[in-house]
Amino acid sequence: MSELGVKHLLGIKYLNEKDIQLIFKTADHFKEVINRSIKKVPSLRDITIANIFFENSTRTKLSFELAEKRLSADVINFSAAQSSVKKGETLIDTVNNILSMKVDMVVMRHPNPGAGIFLSKHVDAAIINAGDGAHEHPTQALLDSYSIREKLGDVAGKNVVIVGDILHSRVALSNIFALKLQGANVKVCGPKTLIPKHVESLGVTVETDLIKALNWCDVANMLRIQNERMDISYFPTTREYTQQFGINKKLLDSLDKEIVIMHPGPINRGVEITSDVADSKQSIILNQVENGVAIRMAVIYLLASIIK
Ligand code: CP
Repeated sequence: MSELGVKHLLGIKYLNEKDIQLIFKTADHFKEVINRSIKKVPSLRDITIANIFFENSTRTKLSFELAEKRLSADVINFSAAQSSVKKGETLIDTVNNILSMKVDMVVMRHPNPGAGIFLSKHVDAAIINAGDGAHEHPTQALLDSYSIREKLGDVAGKNVVIVGDILHSRVALSNIFALKLQGANVKVCGPKTLIPKHVESLGVTVETDLIKALNWCDVANMLRIQNERMDISYFPTTREYTQQFGINKKLLDSLDKEIVIMHPGPINRGVEITSDVADSKQSIILNQVENGVAIRMAVIYLLASIIK
């Protein structure tokens, strides 16, 4: 059986095209499993996984937990807000204490970029990055590409625009890496202040005119403004941001072709996307969430097969 070329999933940056196709093929199998009446397989009865979240999450946390349970793994959940981290315990001490309870794999979300990479060098367990600050969110990018593949048949050759707060977005960076590996054409679009300097070095082009970007693309991935990562104002007002970079039904209907609308969530309705677009038949936002479970089952299963 094929194996991933990595022992941890720390970022898309560390994967190659073969790894991504293996994850997708494995996810195809698990997607079929989770649509059966009995949605569970016994594959990981001998594996224990700790989900440790130092930042808020709805989709990623629940999706990982469900993926682990569908694979029959034992699961423990740790939320920093209710833990001894509040009493001054370090990240490594916290994780080593959890691992001493015979845990094999750690899924971690953390506000600091590189937290998963740091942990992987100091503890003896497979680490999955569930989002590290403004750095990477690899399973989100995998489920996004998987959803494009499902909707449009392939990712290669497709024109994908990522719109919004590119500067603070781990989803944007992981998506750029994943889409480029698969041969998609990628543009980023947003206010100049929210586009990282030298982003073109990643093989993407920059467009500050949303209408031009939407007319070019097959897929628009709309991102929210990450206010929690901003200590200054990057644009005058939310109203002006929405006027220039928000998508609405009138704009969508004015395009020459039917584009696919994506959003990693959480959505700020009426800011980057209106409800009539988010809930339209062109939107695959809830398909992305559904596919997240199959993708995370695939990643966990493939990493566990390296541990075993
Ligand atoms: N897309 C995403 O990461 O959502 P959560 O923050 O709710 O996990």
